[in-house]
Amino acid sequence: MKKAIADVALEGKRVLIRVDFNVPIKDGVIGDDTRIRSAIPTIEYAVSKGAKIIICSHLGRPLKEEKKAFEKGLPFDRLKFSLRPIATHLSELLNRSVVFLDSCRGDEVVSHIKSMNDGDICLLENLRYEAGEESNDSEFSKALGALCDVFVNDAFGAAHRAHASTVGVTGFVEYSVAGMLMQRELEFLGKLLDSPERPFVAILGGAKVSDKIPVIQALIDKKVDKILVGGAMAYTFLKANGYTVGKSLVEDDMLEQALNIEKKAREFGVEIVLPTDHQVVDSYDPLNSRKTIPIDFTNSGLVGLDIGVETVELFKSKLQGVKTILWNGPMGMFEEKPFNMGTIEIAKAVADATKGGAVSVVGGGDSVAAINETGLQSSITHISTGGGATLEFLSGSKLPGVEALSEKD
Ligand code: 3PG
Repeated sequence: MKKAIADVALEGKRVLIRVDFNVPIKDGVIGDDTRIRSAIPTIEYAVSKGAKIIICSHLGRPLKEEKKAFEKGLPFDRLKFSLRPIATHLSELLNRSVVFLDSCRGDEVVSHIKSMNDGDICLLENLRYEAGEESNDSEFSKALGALCDVFVNDAFGAAHRAHASTVGVTGFVEYSVAGMLMQRELEFLGKLLDSPERPFVAILGGAKVSDKIPVIQALIDKKVDKILVGGAMAYTFLKANGYTVGKSLVEDDMLEQALNIEKKAREFGVEIVLPTDHQVVDSYDPLNSRKTIPIDFTNSGLVGLDIGVETVELFKSKLQGVKTILWNGPMGMFEEKPFNMGTIEIAKAVADATKGGAVSVVGGGDSVAAINETGLQSSITHISTGGGATLEFLSGSKLPGVEALSEKD
């Protein structure tokens, strides 16, 4: 069992909180801020205990040249991956001042932290501007460790990365503990793996089967009752079953794997449900040719971009009376209206099933965005902030960022 934030004294302590503020930002404007809001309970808890709070996160994937320019103080488009806009937003959400420091280490950072009073908050610049972050460099880990007395990892979304701020730093502080979001994620996702109430239905979507194979295998091993497959990944299964899918996105090198998954599912008594109709466009006239047709009627010139209404009804019927739902991945090209229909309808169906007594866990950027768009967030039991981390955890992998935390006494 890992130590949690409530297990350590925080009063007067310098507390470094690693969060995952890797959120969409365009021209300084923040898109979906679910990850920022999700970190608020831990930050407010640390404030209430009288800690000096130093927050750090990565954002995006700066290039080697950008890291070099940062290190050498050379000019580059610094705002592209800067956490500065997040400091402003966080300050509004907390209704408290959040001081932004434009580095993660060095004299200015150290002297600012020295001047902090209990309850003060600062946010460091993007950890990934530092070359030592992703390489889990021990010198950078040590520099981070020197900033604090207690390290709190609340970045579930980055827990599958063995980086300086998720793993290395823990070697240089006395206490490394889980934040409240981290605890909540581990509790809900752990329950899905260990003791889900049945019937248990997984809804999986997104572009690629290859991204989801380990999680599908793990779900079949756990004898989930049904797996509903939407999104482009359904076309790989459909093609493997002999359907004509036109120009829809297919992973041809995964056809055999798809059949193997279906075979294993049959052996374990798991039902795999594929779409029966879909929204398509003609690849030669995509703007004027949208229609909904049965999967059987797909000719070679058509591209499928979303599930159809019949499939929505089919998937809804499979959610009747379920006790546990896991949903990860969009049902179609969610970012392009009207091909968001299937994803939005599934969001509503998952919320309805939850109101009817099911426990629902939703993960993945587009699925979470669909829930937010419908305004039904409060009807979902747990919205996971992890992308890759959620899938890796549900596949049964150990997450390095969790493993590195201190053990409970
Ligand atoms: C995510 O968005 O899944 C996490 O923030 C991790 O980001 P990464 O894939 O760039 O490591």
